[in-house]
Amino acid sequence: MKRIAVLTSGGDAPGMNAAIRAVTRTGIQKGWEVIGVRSGYQGLLDGKFMALGTREVSGIIQKGGTMLGSARCLDFKTEEGQIKAIRTLNETGIDALVVIGGNGSQTGANALLQHNFPVVGVASTIDNDLCGSDITIGVDTALNIALEAIDRLKITASSHQRAFLIEVMGRNCGYLALMCGIAGGAEKVVIPEIKTTPEEVADAIRVAYEKGKAHAIVVVAEGAPYNAQKLVEYFTEHRERLGFDLRASTLGYIQRGGNPGAFDRILASRLGAAATEQLAAGNFGVLVGQVNNQIKATPLPDVVANKKQLDMKLIELARVLD
Ligand code: ADP
Ligand code: F6P
Repeated sequence: MKRIAVLTSGGDAPGMNAAIRAVTRTGIQKGWEVIGVRSGYQGLLDGKFMALGTREVSGIIQKGGTMLGSARCLDFKTEEGQIKAIRTLNETGIDALVVIGGNGSQTGANALLQHNFPVVGVASTIDNDLCGSDITIGVDTALNIALEAIDRLKITASSHQRAFLIEVMGRNCGYLALMCGIAGGAEKVVIPEIKTTPEEVADAIRVAYEKGKAHAIVVVAEGAPYNAQKLVEYFTEHRERLGFDLRASTLGYIQRGGNPGAFDRILASRLGAAATEQLAAGNFGVLVGQVNNQIKATPLPDVVANKKQLDMKLIELARVLD
């Protein structure tokens, strides 16, 4: 192994920079040259590379986003795109690639593996929807950002005796919403994994008022069939019968854009270093993640073939604490 490359792909996540830094510095310590690929898989197709030395990754551990840039790259989803990417990697003398990203990005890494290109994945997405890591880089920071917003919304909700729908990200996974619900003290959590009707949401709001609460907070996952917009439409249509006032806030990209907290910086540093360890050991085609508080390597084909399940005990906890 002489020269490795690293890229960040999919939605940016706080801590990606710390992972780039760890890959770069541990790679250099092994005597390798480290190349950064700009804009995820798009950079592989366009040959957008930059040399990464220890100084290039200075002063980034505390910054959100990704210094390499990220992208959603449709061309890479095609066989033709993947072959082109491998050609570029070979022409640049790159022996192996580290892919920092979420579910889709690791599916892309697995595609490179199937074409016999040596890859190692690093689990990073705010959605926490990736098998092979109990928690992914960026989740903790995104959760804390969402919680700060929820705490603020609670204050204004209480002042007006209002019900609030707060929509959080997560794509098709309810993890962020569920954790926001537990940590933010929500009356109800609406997630894609559990079928929830608007009437059930209305009941939860009504019960909160009956208990004497000054507000009712409902955390809604963007991927739920009844997301915030659909619930607002329903509640507006049935306003008279339901008898309470409701507001909605969609937190959106704010959750992604923060500077990483201690947890994400440390997790990213550990996973970045673990990625180069796997490469040095010749253990290609794995995703490094944290499982039962240990850093573990899971074969990429297993990672992408399985859907991560939500812990039912946490769903129950959200219910009993409302
Ligand atoms: P994330 O990695 O955060 O889940 P995406 O799902 O958008 O984000 O995936 C990021 C990129 O990974 C996509 O833009 C595409 O280039 C690549 N990718 C996603 N799915 C596949 C796939 N099935 N095959 C090959 N590449 C994929
Ligand atoms: O995967 C991270 C994520 O922030 C999801 O939670 C969200 O659905 C999606 O990315 C938004 O994607 P984009 O940045 O392409 O709008």
